[in-house]
Amino acid sequence: MAVETAETIETLRAARQQMSGSVGLVPTMGALHEGHLALVQQARSENDHVIATIFVNPTQFNDAADFAAYPHDLAHDLELFERGGVDLVFAPMPDVMYPSGYQTYVTVEQMTQPLEGAHRPGHFRGVTTVVAKLFNLTQPHRAYFGQKDAQQVAVIQRMVDDMNFPLAVVVCPTVREPDGLAMSSRNRNLTRAQRQAAPVLYQALMAAQAAYQRGERSSKILRRLMRDVLAQEPLADVDYVSVADARSLEELTQLTDQPVLVSLAVRIGQTRLIDNVLLPAQSYA
Ligand code: PAF
Repeated sequence: MAVETAETIETLRAARQQMSGSVGLVPTMGALHEGHLALVQQARSENDHVIATIFVNPTQFNDAADFAAYPHDLAHDLELFERGGVDLVFAPMPDVMYPSGYQTYVTVEQMTQPLEGAHRPGHFRGVTTVVAKLFNLTQPHRAYFGQKDAQQVAVIQRMVDDMNFPLAVVVCPTVREPDGLAMSSRNRNLTRAQRQAAPVLYQALMAAQAAYQRGERSSKILRRLMRDVLAQEPLADVDYVSVADARSLEELTQLTDQPVLVSLAVRIGQTRLIDNVLLPAQSYA
């Protein structure tokens, strides 16, 4: 039997009301990969019910070409969610989430300024707005996000704390291809040559991690090591490399024993990829 789907607020609310016990929410923009399925698996193991959402949220795209290029595969996504044990999929059209006259947005302030925020103006305002709406609509006990989008996770956790949403944000580890490339829906847009170049992001992060493990504590040196690795790949066009405090996301000069987020954004052709590691590894609860 196909997974139950809701496309309107009314059908979603009616289906949610039938659920007793705990609910885990897995918000997605579709074009599912193993990373999403790992979120579903964890949600499945920790809750009585799992709701997943598929919505390519227009308000978080600052670039119309990026929005247009975002991959869609609804039929396949529904099949994967069904196999993963999702109970209900909410897949609304844009005018269901943003009907005519819509004008309310949620903004997290300082933490959305650096990194992705600096390169994608308005992005996090779109993310926090849609995630707040999804929280209100699905009333989950736990919501599952991937560590690959480290700043997104930190910003959503801040919003949950600041707005007193009664739920736990659960962060799941980044799922990687055998060559280290972080799973991402955007990987589908890479040509063969670009796909071969893409693991350079992970190689750069590993260079920083290895230096840190040898005792290097200068963020300037860690950033330079990453840029040196990236410079060896002609298809890689760097947006930023960052060594920041894992909680405040403020750029660091000298590393202390506080958790550090090492992250980067790199364009490979038209496709913009991001990735990160936490140091010391797994230090961020
Ligand atoms: O990470 C994503 O796929 C999106 O930013 C999210 C959280 C589903 C909000 O649109």
